[in-house]
Amino acid sequence: MLQAKKILLAVTGSIAAYKAATLVRLLVKERAEVKVIMTKAATDFIPALTMATLSKNKVLTDLYEEDTWANHVVLGRWADVMLIAPASCNSIAKMANGLCDNLLMAVYLSATSPVIIAPAMDEDMWHHPSCKKNIETLAGYGNIILPVENGELASGLQGEGRMQEPENIIEYLKSYFQIKNDLQGKHVLISAGPTQEALDPVRYLTNHSTGKMGIALAKECYSRGAIVTMVLGPVNEKVPEHINIIPVVSAAQMYEACIAHFAKTDIAIMCAAVADYTPVETASEKIKKKENIFTIECVKTKDILKKLGEMKTAKQVLAGFALETENETANAIKKLDNKNADFIILNSLRDEGAGFGSSTNKISIFGKGNQSFSFEKKMKEAAATDIINIITKK
Ligand code: C5P
Repeated sequence: MLQAKKILLAVTGSIAAYKAATLVRLLVKERAEVKVIMTKAATDFIPALTMATLSKNKVLTDLYEEDTWANHVVLGRWADVMLIAPASCNSIAKMANGLCDNLLMAVYLSATSPVIIAPAMDEDMWHHPSCKKNIETLAGYGNIILPVENGELASGLQGEGRMQEPENIIEYLKSYFQIKNDLQGKHVLISAGPTQEALDPVRYLTNHSTGKMGIALAKECYSRGAIVTMVLGPVNEKVPEHINIIPVVSAAQMYEACIAHFAKTDIAIMCAAVADYTPVETASEKIKKKENIFTIECVKTKDILKKLGEMKTAKQVLAGFALETENETANAIKKLDNKNADFIILNSLRDEGAGFGSSTNKISIFGKGNQSFSFEKKMKEAAATDIINIITKK
């Protein structure tokens, strides 16, 4: 399971650093490719020479080596996973606040790979509100935090704060890589962003959607092995090039594109903020200013999610979003039935840090058969992981 996986092990200054040697040995035994970076404090607990010998790779500790710059960006891009074990209280605080005063921090901040953190510290430090807050911040950034163990601590006290045993971390990595491929070869269709409904050649009706949530979902599905197609309204966000984009402007174009791609789709997630109404007529010339009151006659757009719900076969999974301002749960559950969706993801505009524009979201997921799942506010990338975890369980 870990064969040929590229693991960048980052070791910080904690007494648990001695366990990092076992970790390297077990990773190598699993035929993973291991590179190790260490903070200066970590080398006080375990020599870099030990880690270099076990990993069969040079160990980096400094941003500069013999007058040459250590390329931290390359390391963070090389890895399939950056594993920070043990992660000391001090390093966790630096990571949560974006400090960059050593090689390990520079690699962490520039890493494009997922990051798994195995904290290790004394119980009282672990329970300090500042540490709790830092851990929450890191989890909110989409980092995976491994739980600490309860047991004998370096201080001689008993309690929470011990780093996970290396064997457990290896088991976690194995199941992580298994999950990482759980959408291998599946076709995923995602609608995202706003639509623009033209009034005349220069004006349109639209909304504040930025497409961030849909793009986060597309990235998550791609990283789990899916072939992803996005039907994307006009947005400023950048989309990774390996995602197949079908750019659209209006609700009618989005409808046509989604319907056309649905037959070969295994999972469809309708995340777009589609206009509910479109002007009956689009003027061919710019509308002139005349009367005091200007009325736009509109007609309902076609409901894409509802149509896909009618077309859906037993093998396909369909999810939609509900952005509500009142009676949130009741409205979301109603939508599940009305649109024959398998899941409705609710975000309430009443929750701070949820919905349009923001980088975070606070979601609840409702599934057929009275299933419901609630999540804390987190970065949209982490919310996307939660959503796909639930959908793939079906
Ligand atoms: O009915 P309502 O617009 O509240 O439902 C929201 C869900 O339906 C979202 O998943 C949205 O993408 C989808 N939708 C759609 N086509 C429409 C309107 C909404 O697919 N015309």
